[in-house]
Amino acid sequence: MTTWHTLWDARPGWLNTASYGLPPRQAYTELQTVLDQWRHGSSDWKPWDDSVARARTAFARLIGAPAADVTVSSTASQINSTIATALPERARVLVPDIEFTSNVFPWAVAADVETVPLARLAEHITPATTAVAFSLIQSATGERAPLADIIAAAREHDTLVIADASQACGWLPITPDGIDALVCAAYKWLMAPRGAAFGYLSPRLRERMRPLAANWYSAPDPTTAFYGMPLRVAADARAFDLSPAWFCYVGAAPALELLTTLGVDAVGAHNLALANHVRAGLGLPPGDSPILSLAADPARLTAAGITAATRAGRARLSFHAYNTLADAERALEALT
Ligand SMILES: Cc1ncc(COP(=O)(O)O)c(C=O)c1O
Repeated sequence: MTTWHTLWDARPGWLNTASYGLPPRQAYTELQTVLDQWRHGSSDWKPWDDSVARARTAFARLIGAPAADVTVSSTASQINSTIATALPERARVLVPDIEFTSNVFPWAVAADVETVPLARLAEHITPATTAVAFSLIQSATGERAPLADIIAAAREHDTLVIADASQACGWLPITPDGIDALVCAAYKWLMAPRGAAFGYLSPRLRERMRPLAANWYSAPDPTTAFYGMPLRVAADARAFDLSPAWFCYVGAAPALELLTTLGVDAVGAHNLALANHVRAGLGLPPGDSPILSLAADPARLTAAGITAATRAGRARLSFHAYNTLADAERALEALT
């Protein structure tokens, strides 16, 4: 087991990263420094803004994409809403029947939405399917999407592939190969403050999108775009940037950089080992997700000092880099 937990100040028993992730100490400290500068007016905003570039670069590294293909935002749903501008009239979007609404409602506003079980998504992609949108890891159950099958079917029918990585990026090795949009809220497994989100946008998708929230930050050079016409937007994915919530990015940059240092493969292995330790203790076979969905009495978990969530009437326990074997043992004790 690793000693990574010493880089955080996590309360023992915090098994709720699928709700929100905890900041590494470095991220918390950098944010406090900047909040102090804000309080006293002792800094220009430009050093705060450097965090946005740092975070964008680190996210691009985590998914193995060029930073020029990554847009920054505040929420996954905002990125999806802008992606929806790429859909033609009477578009049809296929989504799993259980899917987080931030990856459903933006499509429902713009298109006809068809829902099918996650496991059968690929076989329901037809020539009439404009886009398929799904979470790489389902937020309530931790179930993995059949990504390779979805990509293969989408390729056959020229369907756009829109993947939500909010429950995956940070522990699951991901590449954008075969994916048109990889959208990620950063406040969970990327351990940023809420208010930072990233989106990989493929060049072919960007050609169809309109910069719905165009602003000074989406200009080719934001520092010379404070006033007036003409409309000017960057040639890369920055065209779709929201003007950034600086403090969220001040916290995001060190957290993402730490993940690139620890390595997503290593973090994933650590997380799965802890989740599978609990599964083994319960007599279950090993799984492929750090999110466990179990029939358990929430009161017993709380009494044992475990923080978990309840989703669809079941306890949801999630394990990340700062969790330890002691956390897994504590959960097991409460569950058995
Ligand atoms: C799969 C998934 N996507 C997105 C979000 C958050 O979306 P938003 O950033 O729009 O609040 C969540 C939050 O639980 C989620 O589980």
